[in-house]
Amino acid sequence: MIAIAAVDMNWGIGYAGELLVSLPEDQKGVFRKYTSGHTVVYGRKTLKTYKDERLLPNRINVILTHDETFEKEGAVICHSVEELDEYLATVNDEVYVIGGESTYKLLLDRCDKAIITYIEYEYMADAFFPNLDERLDWRLESEEPAIESIAGVTFCVRHYERIKGV
Ligand SMILES: NC(=O)c1ccc[n+]([C@@H]2O[C@H](COP(=O)([O-])OP(=O)(O)OC[C@H]3O[C@@H](n4cnc5c(N)ncnc54)[C@H](OP(=O)(O)O)[C@@H]3O)[C@@H](O)[C@H]2O)c1
Repeated sequence: MIAIAAVDMNWGIGYAGELLVSLPEDQKGVFRKYTSGHTVVYGRKTLKTYKDERLLPNRINVILTHDETFEKEGAVICHSVEELDEYLATVNDEVYVIGGESTYKLLLDRCDKAIITYIEYEYMADAFFPNLDERLDWRLESEEPAIESIAGVTFCVRHYERIKGV
């Protein structure tokens, strides 16, 4: 599994149920580029951040919820990590964990890579991604050149990998 997230300098990822900022270059050039054609796993609250709660196109959308009555046409619904594992065992595909905070925390230990859009700015945030720079079991493998967004901030894409055996 691969985690993919956009974080600010404090590893903030969201505020009041929304993203910190919308970066079109990140959405198209990074998020869509990597996840298109693959399987994405996310929490029910992240679905609420999508326009009209529409599923992400060209991807298998797997939504986590404890709610047994929750339905979403076209999506795979999993009610626990065990159910998710059962489903993913049937899938021969790249699987991306795409948020939000509780879903990243739940599944980070199952990920061996993380693609982090690191935004050079400090926002007000109430949702966070675990700070991989402070983790002994993760290391920064590479960093792409910085990009200036039309949103007025600079970001770069960092590739982290889990250190095996730690
Ligand atoms: N910057 C980024 O890259 C990025 C990406 C995505 C999201 N975000 C931000 O992250 C924030 C949302 O994060 P969040 O933690 O509140 O929400 P979330 O992870 O998207 O969704 C949480 C929900 O997932 C379900 N869930 C979690 N663990 C589960 C488990 N073990 N089994 C079954 N269902 C489970 C529960 O749904 P039920 O309540 O239905 O049981 C839970 O309320 C927002 O601010 C959003 O904008 C940022």
